[in-house]
Amino acid sequence: MKSSAYLADHVARYTLAHTTPPDPLLEELAAETHALTGDNAGLQISPEQGPLLTMLTQLAGARNAVEVGTFTGYSSICIARGLAPGGRLTCFDISEEWTSIARRYWARAGLDDRVELRLGPAARNLAELPETETIDFAFIDADKGGYPTYYELILARLVPGGLIVVDNTLRRGRVAEAPAAGDDPIVRVTREFNDLVIADDRVTTVLLPFADGLTLIRKR
Ligand SMILES: C[S@@+](CC[C@H](N)C(=O)[O-])C[C@H]1O[C@@H](n2cnc3c(N)ncnc32)[C@H](O)[C@@H]1O
Repeated sequence: MKSSAYLADHVARYTLAHTTPPDPLLEELAAETHALTGDNAGLQISPEQGPLLTMLTQLAGARNAVEVGTFTGYSSICIARGLAPGGRLTCFDISEEWTSIARRYWARAGLDDRVELRLGPAARNLAELPETETIDFAFIDADKGGYPTYYELILARLVPGGLIVVDNTLRRGRVAEAPAAGDDPIVRVTREFNDLVIADDRVTTVLLPFADGLTLIRKR
């Protein structure tokens, strides 16, 4: 998904031309993902989201990060590269097939020692994390109906000042249209999630019209 969803084409091109580009490894991963997964390659974050995730991880000074929704590993590499020295990223995904590609690229990126994968439903595996295991930074990019559960489980473990970044919160702007009976269920659950977050006084939040909507949530 390109940032152009909310920008004129020439502005989108300019923005991309002035954002740090992916390195050859990430480009190779994007190309292999396309070759191996076809249309599912659209699940991957867009190239301009990569450096933002790295920068946010760095700004958060994250030592303990989690990612819900890893796919073939693009966003996890961007996050892991931003971790503080000695930091760790725990990834949650249900697909052995897609994450086997991620594992190969973690090794090639030299991130094996920093990234751990928990395969299975994220709600179950997150709930198994001890509440004493604190989280500094989280990225949520999985099944949209699960977002409220992932949000609560992560927030309970998030340090004050910690950051949760949530992808696809605008659904190409459809969340902003008047609700109707025939709405796509994903649009409906995304609206519900956005409403839940803005009503939550435990956090401050910014919904950025970037890529397909990226919400930044900071625990007070
Ligand atoms: C949009 S993709 C993630 C893309 C990834 N962040 C990237 O940049 O490449 C969503 C991922 O969520 C995973 N997923 C879907 N339902 C899940 C669940 N209940 N628990 C854990 N992962 C799930 C899918 O297997 C898929 O890999």
